[in-house]
Parts: sequence; C-alpha cells; structure tokens
Amino acid sequence: MCGIVGYAGSREASDVLLGALSGLEYRGYDSAGISVLTENGIDTVKSKGRLQALADRLKTHPLSGHCGIGHTRWATHGEPSDLNAHPHVTEKLSLVHNGIIENYQQIKNKLVTSGYEFVSRTDTEVAAKLIDSLYSGDPVDTIRRAQEQLEGSYAFAILFADHPGTIYATRKGSPLIAAKTETEGFIASDVPAILQYTRTYVLLEELQIAAVSADGISLFNPDGSQPVLEYRTASWTVEQAQKGGYPHFMLKEIYEQPKALRDTVHPRISDGLPSFELQDDIPEGFWKQFEAVTIVACGTAMHAGMLGKALIEKLARIPVECDIASEFRYRDPILTPRTLVLLISQSGETADTLAALRLAKERGITTLAVVNVTGSSIAREADYVIHTYAGPEIAVASTKAYSVQLSVMYLIAFKLALANRRISGEEAQNLTAGLLHAIDATEQVLTLGADIQEYIKRYQTLKDLFFLGRGLDYALSMEGSLKLKEISYIHCEAYAAGELKHGTISLITEGVPVVAVATQSALLPKMISNVKEVHSRGADILLICKDGFEVDPDVYSKCIRLPALDDLFMPVIGVLVLQLLAYHTAVLRGCDVDKPRNLAKSVTVE
Ligand code: G6P
Repeated sequence: MCGIVGYAGSREASDVLLGALSGLEYRGYDSAGISVLTENGIDTVKSKGRLQALADRLKTHPLSGHCGIGHTRWATHGEPSDLNAHPHVTEKLSLVHNGIIENYQQIKNKLVTSGYEFVSRTDTEVAAKLIDSLYSGDPVDTIRRAQEQLEGSYAFAILFADHPGTIYATRKGSPLIAAKTETEGFIASDVPAILQYTRTYVLLEELQIAAVSADGISLFNPDGSQPVLEYRTASWTVEQAQKGGYPHFMLKEIYEQPKALRDTVHPRISDGLPSFELQDDIPEGFWKQFEAVTIVACGTAMHAGMLGKALIEKLARIPVECDIASEFRYRDPILTPRTLVLLISQSGETADTLAALRLAKERGITTLAVVNVTGSSIAREADYVIHTYAGPEIAVASTKAYSVQLSVMYLIAFKLALANRRISGEEAQNLTAGLLHAIDATEQVLTLGADIQEYIKRYQTLKDLFFLGRGLDYALSMEGSLKLKEISYIHCEAYAAGELKHGTISLITEGVPVVAVATQSALLPKMISNVKEVHSRGADILLICKDGFEVDPDVYSKCIRLPALDDLFMPVIGVLVLQLLAYHTAVLRGCDVDKPRNLAKSVTVE
C-alpha cells in the first residue's frame, strides 16, 4: 500500500527520499513521486511504475534542494498513471497522502464552485486543494481546519512553499512516524523507510500534527498543546530488512521461520508451560473468564486464525468464530461480556482489523491482539497484546508472520485449555513440548525445496489448481492456495476434501492438478477416498502426507513425506512445503515474487 517519506537536512533531499522510498517498496505500489523545495520553489517529478522509473526520470529532471517529500502510490481512486501519482501540487504546497478521503466529492464540488480546477482523478488532489484554499500562512492552523472537513483516513506529508526547511505531517487512521538524527528530520509511514538513516523515531497519535526540520521534531495535539516527545528506538536492523544473499525476500523469510518461531515461543514458556505473564503482562487469571472467542483478521492472518479456531475448540472446548475483519465489522456480531475478541495482524495497521478492534472496544469487549509490528495502531489500542517476533516481513506474501501467528494460536489454545481444566498441567507440558519439537522439525522440512522444484516444472503454464484437505489440513490448504495464487497468478481453490463432490468436482478432468494435503492420521482413510475420487477423473495429484502413511502409489504422481509428528502439530511443518511450492512455482513462471501485481503488504484502506 502507499508509502510516505519526508526529509529535511543538509543532504540532497531527492537522494535521501529515493533511498527511503526503496525501504517501503515492499508494501506494494504502482507509481511514485517526489517534491523538493528548490531555489525556484517546489518542483516535482512523478512516474508510473517502479521506483527505478522515477530514478531514471530524475536523471533528466534533477531536483536540487534539502527538504522534500516522496510517495509510492497503490491506486485506489484513479488508475496508476503519472497524473494520479503523488505528490499533488498547488501554487502554495505539495502533498502526499495515504488512505482514502471519503467525502472528497462534496469537497471537490465546493472547490470547483470557488474556481479550483482538477487534473487528476484522485481524492488526494482534493485534500491538497482544500488545504490550499484554507491556507492562512500558518501551516499548523490550516491543517487543523482542513481536518475538520476531511472524512475518511489519511496520513499527509506537506511541503509549504513559504516554509522552506520544514515538512508538516498529520494522520488519522493511517500510520505515520517522525524520525531524526542530530542534524536531520524525517517523516515516514513505516519504520523500514528510515532504518538506513536513523533508528530514533516518534509515533504520531491520531490527529496530531508534526513539524519536522533539520533542527528536530515538534508535535501539536488537536487542542494546540505540545506533548513531550516519546522517542522509540527501532529494534529492527537494516540487515533484517535486506535480502542477505537470498534471491528474494520471500525465500529469506521462509528460511527464517525456525528462528522466528523459537524467538516467539521460547520467551512464553515457563516450567514447560505456556505463560504470557512476564513477556506480555497478561495475568494468569485472564484466561479463565471467557466462554467464547471471536478471532478477527484478514488474509493470511485470518488463515492462522482458522487454525486457531480448530485448536482452541479441540483443546479448550470453547466455541470459536473466525471472521474476516471486513465482514465482522458490518454484520453486527454477537459478542457477550465473556467473549474474547482475538485480533491477528502482522502489520498491526490493516484498516478492517483495526476497525474490528475499535468496534469490540466500543462494546466493552476484551480485546487481545497478536501483532508483529511494535507500536502499530492495533498493538497500541488493544487491551492486551502478544507480540510475535518474526522481525520485519518484507515480501508481500506473508510466510514467517503466518508461522509465528500459528505458534501463538497453539500457546493460547494450551493456555485456555488449562485455564478451563480441559487438560492437566502434565498434558499442557506435553503439548508444549510437542510444539517445540515441531519447531525443531521445521529445519528438516526446509530441505525439501529441491524436490519440490523438480516436481513443479509441470506448473509452468498452468491456469487452475485445486487444494484438498480435511480438518486442520483444510485450514492449511486455504493458506497454501492463497500463497500460490497471490504470487504465481495460478487460479487456485482450496476445498474441504469431502465437499468437492458437491459441485466443484465437475471441474476435475484429465490432467487437472490437485494438491492433496493429508497429514491427519485420524482422517486419512476418508481423505484417501476423496483423493481417489479425483484421481479416477484424471487429476494429477501431488500428495503431501506424513511419513509412514501407507497410500496406494497409483493414486498420486508425487508424494512429499513430512516428519511424523502428532497430528495436532502437522500444520507447523506442513505450511513450509506449501510456501516452498508457491515460491518455486512463481520463480519458474518468472513472476515478481516479492511484489506481486495489485497486492499491498499493509492494507490501510477498507
Ligand atoms: C494484505 C497482505 C497479506 C496479509 C493481509 C493482512 O492483504 O498482502 O499478506 O495477510 O494484508 O495483513 P496483516 O498485516 O493485518 O496481517
């Protein structure tokens, strides 16, 4: 999704802005632009496409100056084009924007009546011209008056032509940070933008306005007061946010999973039992109060939630709903005072998940968030937070974040089961040991890449593929299917294996590829019957099963065998194979693995 950067200092602003924008490339974008305050006023260069296109354009149209703003745009209002790219410029100012202005049409109508003309199809140009129309010579006062009229979500960075050397910024519903060194100031929508320059930053609160210059950062609250700045230090390093010798971030992140899992799980084990007391400040008594759990998330995080539902229901015998955040927030969900709303989010900024959190809080329901990014909106607003320690996830397709989210689902399920006296302390210890054992086994599964690569050569020109699974394998298949479709552009669907025959089996003809995930001992006979159903209609089957399962070799073209763990823990290792399958297929097909078309890493609009 869109990225914002701003710089004020003594270096060439365009160089720093390009560097900062490259730190945000991973978020997904389709055009980019920068404005710099030059000797002749604000000058702007924009380009459709990748940052390299912008860098090329800057060679023929250099921008010289020491203060500027930059943007990578993920199109919402208006197609990706030079014209719709940000910054949007007026005589008085230049502005970049993340988010969506919902009442842009009403504001635009008024501005047109008073003589403004519009060249782009964006809501952002409306915001720029609104601020232009209100400009009093005092940027902070003007931004505040604009805030009174703007509905929707926004993070803005603004350069005013008559205030050289200072960037102004504000936010509502979209994240923004201000950062500094001794002699430079920065604005960014996300920490990776500034990592190569500084690790010291402050988070802007809702509706706060920042004035950032080479001398430092000033913040203004909505009531005009100036808060004491609470500096944070980014814990992520530049190295973590680089490829480190891997051809793609996605592959690096797949291989980082054993460490990410250990980093997340080990600090939450005490005396062989799960404990969130020390690490997350969640008291032991917390887990006893719930009679229902509602898990809310989007995308991959929602798939981790689906496994969370299965685990909690199986072990703790508490009913769990798992809902897509964009559906949850508009369906007037039934939440009782003894419901736990559990939100899962890598970025902690997904607009729908954040809105779901706020809805639950408005109703006085206890909220617990599982979040990877410290200081993100969801992490700050939830009543309780369990931070996952995957480190920065740069590839758009989420891998290590999913695994650590899943590991936390296991720990929560054990904890709830123990609190509800569904399992004994000894059983909880055994389960915890089982999880640690599964984490160790991930190392072995990561060696299966070459085998997978060889097999998937047949997927070079494929159009459709089906995943089948039962129980935990069904939830896992949904993630495998999402991973494959988002980066390889093969149309995939995941089906509960027993359900296929109720319609979709009509699509199974000679040679149609099916990935059958069969890691659950108890469900194996049923699963194999379903595999036979598709095999006898010509399906080309890749079977992923547990070592030791006896399956008639006639029914599959290839079988990948996973270490034989207890059924409950098979998803921990099973997902790695599905990620590798997606990764190698996308590479084979020449896809842009880390930046798949149309996708954004952090979806901060509805
Ligand atoms: C986007 C990303 C997905 C991610 C989803 C939820 O769609 O492309 O990879 O799973 O958002 O993001 P979150 O940050 O809330 O986990």
